Amino acid sequence: MAKIFSGVQPTSIPHLGNYLGAMRNFVTLQDGNECIYCIVDEHAITLPQDPGEIQRNIRNLAALYLAMGIDPKRSILFIQSEVPCHAQLGWIMQCVSYMGELERMTQFKDKSKGKTSVPAGLLTYPPLMAADILLYNTELVPVGADQKQHLELTRNLAERFNNKYGDVFVIPEPYIPPVGARIMSLAEPEKKMSKSDTNRKATIFTLDSEKDIIKKIKGATTDDEAEIRYDREKKPGISNLLDIFSICSGRSVEELVNAYQGKGYGEFKTDVAEAVSGTLRPIRERYNNLIESSELDEVLDEGAERAYDIAQQTLKKAEKALGI
Ligand code: ADP
Ligand code: NA
Repeated sequence: MAKIFSGVQPTSIPHLGNYLGAMRNFVTLQDGNECIYCIVDEHAITLPQDPGEIQRNIRNLAALYLAMGIDPKRSILFIQSEVPCHAQLGWIMQCVSYMGELERMTQFKDKSKGKTSVPAGLLTYPPLMAADILLYNTELVPVGADQKQHLELTRNLAERFNNKYGDVFVIPEPYIPPVGARIMSLAEPEKKMSKSDTNRKATIFTLDSEKDIIKKIKGATTDDEAEIRYDREKKPGISNLLDIFSICSGRSVEELVNAYQGKGYGEFKTDVAEAVSGTLRPIRERYNNLIESSELDEVLDEGAERAYDIAQQTLKKAEKALGI
């Protein structure tokens, strides 16, 4: 039994990468563990957001968490900004961080590239993420591969704090799934699938219609061979579709490669699209029933209260250790 924490930003509807790389595991990890899942709205505002839109995205994400199978009787689900301890411990973790190590984060470099003025929050995102995790004595953090570096930093900051001020924080481990940790863009399979991609054919969102799912998968970039085999370097498009197909069908990549020997990309893509549709359909249906219901508000209110009870104890310990 482990203590688990993770979060998703309410910057848009979660995409297939968020689901296959992270959120799907949030659901399975509920068996036998203590799980806390967060809507990290304070992370979402590191880049400017439209207030109405982020408000809608917060509610959509809450409904999607439940629709995907997060069970509020077993797990805590809450909105980050409703528990002020995150911002408070976030500040402390900033004071434990060095500029140099924050500037070296790949995500910071990517997101600040080419900008004439860079919001400071983009740089101090990782110490806030460290606070999110450390507040709950987290042992395991299910994330996609892109978060590995931030998690490594979280461990370093926690160890640095503990060494200097005494044993306050539990040192967390990442949980990165063997398949699905890095779902790629359908249009440019050398790039990860991302919410901020402006190419509308690149990303499948978890609430996309069946028609859109088929269109996007049929249009996915592949290669000019006619052979279905797994090779991330030479055949990134087909390999990405194999990963997606494998998770959505429950069949191993090896089994799929054997089954599609001698078959064309067209037939393969049709079956991938069907598997993805079959995976997302029940989520979409449950979402439609949840989005207008008051159950959502009750779950989030109760989640924030339960999260606060744990978080404020850790915050107090950290402040006491610091002498403030
Ligand atoms: P995004 O990176 O799309 O803006 P978040 O930062 O909210 O979304 O990420 C939520 C979770 O989804 C994180 O654990 C992240 O590692 C995971 N994730 C994001 N993109 C992908 C992807 N393309 N493949 C697998 N997992 C991903
Ligand atoms: Na991310």
